[in-house]
Amino acid sequence: MTNIAIDGPAGAGKSTIAKKVAKALSFIYVDTGAMYRAMALYLYRNGIAADDADKIAAACGGAAISIEYRDGEQVVLLGEENVNPYLRTQEVSAMASRSSAVPQVRTRLVQLQQELAASQNVVMDGRDIGTVVLPNAQVKIYLTASVEVRAKRRFLELTEKGESAVLEEIAAEIADRDHRDMTREVSPLKQAEDAVLVDTSDMTIDEVTQRILDIVKEKTGIVQAHNN
Ligand code: DC
Repeated sequence: MTNIAIDGPAGAGKSTIAKKVAKALSFIYVDTGAMYRAMALYLYRNGIAADDADKIAAACGGAAISIEYRDGEQVVLLGEENVNPYLRTQEVSAMASRSSAVPQVRTRLVQLQQELAASQNVVMDGRDIGTVVLPNAQVKIYLTASVEVRAKRRFLELTEKGESAVLEEIAAEIADRDHRDMTREVSPLKQAEDAVLVDTSDMTIDEVTQRILDIVKEKTGIVQAHNN
């Protein structure tokens, strides 16, 4: 199987790019953040407090999380229920940020991710894919952009939806989250030694996608199967 790992901080454009690369290569896109979010939803529904690491560790084994692909989209199931519509709320984001630091949560989800990658060609994005989940991935990309650029992208996204936003506040939140992701004890966000750094600050989505397809070709000889 061919595995492509894409890691990087929040807001670097990982999921947008990973989806496009997967489509171009006819690979499966695996969004690991959605799995951490599904686990967070399960914990939240069970009334567990985000700061209670012991309860999270004890409860996480009960979450029956699985992944299916419907019309090319990743669907996350909790038991039989498609929970995709509930994964992006503020409560779930806040819980995921805490519960993803609990080792028992990571052990379970990393196993599921490794199983997915063992049986099909995948583009998988997250924080620890190149370092922990798929250390033998044929292609590893570390996607980043400056805090200013990521804040501006998020600001535009929100204001285009008609929501109010303050650029400086968004930038401070992003810097804060980077710090938390990079300094946590278990599987902190860091560039794998053999990952290629792609700084998207001054690149368009299409340019980044093409750059990664070029790297894939160089490392594996695999070329684009589809035009986007
Ligand atoms: O990428 P995202 O915002 O959907 O991720 C949700 C949360 O899960 C976020 O707090 C980071 C965490 N996460 C992680 O710890 N490891 C991963 N491989 C993916 C996400």
